[in-house]
Amino acid sequence: MTQMTSSDVPGMGRRQFMNLLTFGSVTGVALGALYPVVNYFIPPRPAGGGGGTSAKDELGNPVTASGWLSNHPNGDRSLVQGLKGDPTYLIVEEENAIGSYGINAICTHLGCVVPWNSGANKFMCPCHGSQYNATGKVVRGPAPLSLALAEVSVENDNVFVSQWKETDFRTGEKPWWV
Ligand code: FES
Repeated sequence: MTQMTSSDVPGMGRRQFMNLLTFGSVTGVALGALYPVVNYFIPPRPAGGGGGTSAKDELGNPVTASGWLSNHPNGDRSLVQGLKGDPTYLIVEEENAIGSYGINAICTHLGCVVPWNSGANKFMCPCHGSQYNATGKVVRGPAPLSLALAEVSVENDNVFVSQWKETDFRTGEKPWWV
């Protein structure tokens, strides 16, 4: 019959201590590994662009005007992550510049992301057939409203997106999204 002696107690204590150390280091490693992930999901403070947010590409990297224009031709409409991460089209204008407005790609019908169809020169929603012209103005339902606009600005080659609060130039009305 084995009896527990007082000399076992420090031994158990050591084991527990070792367990704690192991747990601590595993936790430390796990937290260390998580740090960049957590950091990724905490948006950086908005800067510049009149309080706008930095436009990001599909990998989450900030978009620069020179980089964008080097591989997006005139007339191009391609997506960036804009305000609140909303998919937003940047427009490349004829003079090889990024347009001062972007177009929010979320369909005003039921929220599908609307692709740009360069052949048809329209945004055409695959979900229920709504269509929008090249400025995002609705030209065919069931979408009830035009695509929301966003203000786009370039500062020191960085592209910023902010809320479009002025009159909707496509309708002459107050923006419905503000
Ligand atoms: Fe686009 Fe319905 S969600 S037409």
